[in-house]
Amino acid sequence: MAQLWGGRFTKETDKLVYNFNASISFDQKFYKQDIMGSRAHVKMLAKQGILTEEERDQILEGLDGILKDVENGTLEITSEYEDIHSFVEANLIDRIGDPGKKLHTGRSRNDQVALDMKLYVRDEIDEIDGELKELLTELLSLMSDNVETYMPGFTHLQKAQPVTLAHHIGAYFEMFRRDRERMADIRKRMNLCPLGAGALAGTTYPLDREYTARLLGFDGPTRNSMDSVSDRDYVIELLSALSTIMMHLSRFSEEIILWNSNEYGFVEIDDAYSTGSSIMPQKKNPDIAELLRGKTGRVYGALMSILTIMKGIPLAYNKDMQEDKELTFDAIDTVKGCLRLFAGMISTMEFRKEVMEASAKKGFTNATDAADYLVNHGVPFRDAHGIVGRLVLLCIDRGISLDELPLEEYQKISPVFEEDIYDAVSMKTCVEKRETYGAPGPDVMKKVIAVNREYLEKN
Ligand code: ARG
Repeated sequence: MAQLWGGRFTKETDKLVYNFNASISFDQKFYKQDIMGSRAHVKMLAKQGILTEEERDQILEGLDGILKDVENGTLEITSEYEDIHSFVEANLIDRIGDPGKKLHTGRSRNDQVALDMKLYVRDEIDEIDGELKELLTELLSLMSDNVETYMPGFTHLQKAQPVTLAHHIGAYFEMFRRDRERMADIRKRMNLCPLGAGALAGTTYPLDREYTARLLGFDGPTRNSMDSVSDRDYVIELLSALSTIMMHLSRFSEEIILWNSNEYGFVEIDDAYSTGSSIMPQKKNPDIAELLRGKTGRVYGALMSILTIMKGIPLAYNKDMQEDKELTFDAIDTVKGCLRLFAGMISTMEFRKEVMEASAKKGFTNATDAADYLVNHGVPFRDAHGIVGRLVLLCIDRGISLDELPLEEYQKISPVFEEDIYDAVSMKTCVEKRETYGAPGPDVMKKVIAVNREYLEKN
């Protein structure tokens, strides 16, 4: 049990207490960030004349050696240390002796852990952004390929009006684009450096916090030392944004599960992304989409946990905050894994275009267009609505779609109908006429695709 704070104590910590209190099993995840922070701190101490240049160089060399040895596997991070900060400091002292004991000058583990967590979250935001961008690129390519793939658009899970696959996928493009924007917002707001806040009240050493902040890629130092060590707002914001990403993935997964069912048959998930049943030989299950939907729960759980952890904490640092880590790490790893799997699943999935189009016709998604046809021939909309309602009933009775109903039948119900009604209710015409910006019409869809492409090129 290697502790940094033994001096004031006359008894060993109880073993259970030690284990309960220790964080090394999970905070070892940010050994790199911890060493980076120490490097910047030491450079600043030397610049301010608090350490000599020689001491600085010895410490930097020692820290680099620890990093290298951890990464090549010769130095193991073990539970013998309370946390990652103790591990690095103890190893530094082992390596370089006395100068190592000066590393922690003007610093507390409170500002140190606040820094490590921020550096970690910032790196992960960049990674998640990269995954989101890959997914958007995949969605855009599916959109470009499916401007004329007709399918039913739904409201209340009832077939409503015809759309295209490009349009449907385009809705998710917007969601995941907003997710990227949220990531960027969080990154910008959190990008102030807490190092130098000390335990809570700053330090009596002449630290140059601007300098450390700049070395670590921050926009500047935090403005209040008590807030610096007790702020986890950015974790809450991140987990909220991650929850939103999962909600989007879950909605899309739910649709894919429906589309992949025998009843819909709109898509077939690739064998590589499906699983079988141990008893039913015919089964090919969408387990991956289901797991993506299910894992949403643990990310929401992380958000609820951190909100609850933070709600009763008096200023400034309290140990409750150590609980921010495992759930954040888990949520980040879950979201990254899910984004990757989801992109793989949709890029290998087969879309059954004929089934989609047939489903749109069978569901009378062109009924509004048939009514509009009458309106364009002078029939008041309310009457047109009634006429088409009767036509739909007739078709349901015969098990056919509007484009299969003979012209005489149309004309029996309204003499206004002519041969051109078939063109008016074709999926192609129904979609082509929807040309308001944001609608599925092919010309306007191509414009939006170009806008999306430009966005991905620039961001
Ligand atoms: N392991 C602690 C955490 O994760 C580091 C800070 C410890 N500070 C303290 N005063 N006990 O929050």
